[in-house]
Amino acid sequence: MPESSERHPFLSGLSKHRGAPATCLIIFGASGDLTSRKLLPALYNLSVDNLLPAEFALIGFGRKPLPDEEFRDMSAKEISQYSRRTFRPEIWQRIGENTYYQAGAYDDPAAYQALKERIDAVEKKLGRSLQVVFYISTPPTVFQPILENLGKCGLAARGLGSETESKVIIEKPFGRDLKTAMELNQTITRNFMESQVFRIDHYLGKETVQDLLVLRFGNSIFEPLWNRNYVDNVQITVAEELGVGTRGGYYDHSGSTRDMIQNHTMQLLALTAMEAPVTLDAEDIRNEKVKLLKAIQPLRLDTDRGDAVRAQYIDGLINGAKVSGYLQEKDIAPNSTTETFSAFRLNINNWRWAGVPFYLRSGKRMARRVSEIAIQFKTPVGGLFSSDNRYELAPNRLVIQIQPDEGITFTTNSKVPGLEARTQPVKMNFRYATTYGSNTPEAYERLILDCMIGDRTLFIRGDETESSWKLFTPLLEFWQNLGRRGLETYTAGSWGPLAADRMVWNLGHGWRNSGQ
Ligand code: BG6
Repeated sequence: MPESSERHPFLSGLSKHRGAPATCLIIFGASGDLTSRKLLPALYNLSVDNLLPAEFALIGFGRKPLPDEEFRDMSAKEISQYSRRTFRPEIWQRIGENTYYQAGAYDDPAAYQALKERIDAVEKKLGRSLQVVFYISTPPTVFQPILENLGKCGLAARGLGSETESKVIIEKPFGRDLKTAMELNQTITRNFMESQVFRIDHYLGKETVQDLLVLRFGNSIFEPLWNRNYVDNVQITVAEELGVGTRGGYYDHSGSTRDMIQNHTMQLLALTAMEAPVTLDAEDIRNEKVKLLKAIQPLRLDTDRGDAVRAQYIDGLINGAKVSGYLQEKDIAPNSTTETFSAFRLNINNWRWAGVPFYLRSGKRMARRVSEIAIQFKTPVGGLFSSDNRYELAPNRLVIQIQPDEGITFTTNSKVPGLEARTQPVKMNFRYATTYGSNTPEAYERLILDCMIGDRTLFIRGDETESSWKLFTPLLEFWQNLGRRGLETYTAGSWGPLAADRMVWNLGHGWRNSGQ
């Protein structure tokens, strides 16, 4: 396995990041799930690759009191459990020796004063001034008090205008509808300049997602075909085998549309369908994404012939093991109407895409874990082969598999060798693991590093979240008013409800058997 940046092609591309300034990272929600499973392992792996600045300090902030030493031990344990690479004490030591814990209530100004003093003490110990990065990884109910308090106590404006101005990373959900998203954006901009704000959508940190721009604009053969003249339909699938696990309390107030579609899937859509940006500059790319999001037609709201389907899983089998239905999961209201699957038919009203349906679907407890973008091209004109049923012509299809088994597959038709006249679809297959090795950095490694050097390309801007909420808010309200009416069910381990199939059949299409 490649362990050092020198041996991994992707990591050697990250060497520009070695210039990250001395940093103090403060994680709000230090005992949360994300911190243990993703953030701490990401920091550890950055340290393995010598990509953390030489002077780096970590302060965990949380409600429950915890001595520094205990937080350090806990962090080490979590890293050994979740890191993609083996835990080595000497690597952890580099972070651990400057790791601290600050307890406090998120709405208590005194806690921020104490935090400020802690940061000053760390600076004193390291003998230099530090860039401060706040990572808000808490439930959304405390986003606003944290942001306001950082503003009030002066931490938000720390180093403003200089190379080490403070930065804030925020994890979704960015609101739960257009109104709350706008309120959150207002709170953010009341306390921070937009240039200090890094809204994370971790899908943007995935290798294959970043590769979309290279695939589309770094090759000359795709872009001329990437439009309504050649593309028949586009399908984006983000399917999980997992259920809601221990996150029932959060998920039951969210659902598949808020949790996955409004953010991750829409980012995939925007990168797939946007125009070429003028440069690779963060603002140029974000401008194109926003233009695309604004060009999506409002959804048709109807229980039978609408542009959306929602459903809940009932008990079934995942990999041969019996799993219970959504309503029987922990922390789920017995009469919950939260959807665990949703599917959409979107129309993009611009010159490139008018008339090409974009189908989106995402769900928990589906047949297979797979995230992919499938571009299906139109069948050839002329009917040269179609009048003869010995020729089995499949549509050309370009599938970008985001995860697992990252890769790009292109399906074409070929003649079966032999004297008989027969054709068969064949695949051209590029797999990341085969070409680059399998130990690819996780999204959070890339994103934390990008934030430390101030590169906002892979983060989303406030108006992106608002444009996406503008599309989904009327639908979410429509569903809420309907209650259970129109809420379908699907068996755990299946590809979703029949109603989702019907929605695409109506236009003569069918969902792909994704991941195949
Ligand atoms: C998160 C959602 O944003 O993404 C989770 O809140 C989901 O519900 C997760 O499981 C999926 O991420 P990934 O990277 O495993 O596809």
